[in-house]
Amino acid sequence: MTKLRLGVNIDHVATVRNARGGDNPDPVRAAILAAQAGADGITAHLREDRRHISDDDIDRLTRALTIPLNLEMAATDEMAAIARRAKPHAACIVPEKREERTTEGGIDAAGQHNRLAPIVGALVKANIRVSMFIEADRRQLDASKALGAPVVELHTGAYAHNPQGAELDRLRDAAAYGHRIGLEVHAGHGLTFDNVKPVAAIPEIRELNIGHFLVGEAVFIGLEASIRRMRALMDEART
Ligand code: PXP
Repeated sequence: MTKLRLGVNIDHVATVRNARGGDNPDPVRAAILAAQAGADGITAHLREDRRHISDDDIDRLTRALTIPLNLEMAATDEMAAIARRAKPHAACIVPEKREERTTEGGIDAAGQHNRLAPIVGALVKANIRVSMFIEADRRQLDASKALGAPVVELHTGAYAHNPQGAELDRLRDAAAYGHRIGLEVHAGHGLTFDNVKPVAAIPEIRELNIGHFLVGEAVFIGLEASIRRMRALMDEART
């Protein structure tokens, strides 16, 4: 089976920093440590309201990282311009509502084709690998493909609330279908030590992006140990 990559999302290191203002804890330091602990990439969401990651964090990440940066972004002209300047390895297009606490659902690639097409096109043209953060639904997979995005990330939030039920079957079906139509399939949101293995075992999934749980667990066992344990669980699920 192909190796499963781990993208570590460092947003919530910035959340803790911003609770007090100032510089600590520094998400760039967390990203460097994550790479040492076995992360294959770093994911950071520059939200429109800058509630956690800042523009300066993105600048510093692009300079400091030796592993790929995956920039999560809303499909806006402002974010597309930032992405074209920062040139991350990848950009994951997410829906964004100011009042939400986290990215609550996938983007409606099917219903918003005309709004999304110019943004996706501009990013692809800038050689940024675009992924669409979508629900595990064949219609959304077809729509992502029609937009010209090479990658999709399946939203695992519903599964995380109800592991092992029908939601796992939906993820399995979507991953197999996405792979069949030529998309690279990633997954993420709400994954923990307890629920990661069934998702990591889905053979068509190439990358998981995990953040909140890893940063929370770092309070108890340290960031490096929490990433190493997640990496080990993913590898166990894959063999
Ligand atoms: N993938 C995407 C596209 C996300 O928006 C998020 C949350 O920012 C994650 C993965 C990581 O989710 P979590 O922080 O719950 O692990």
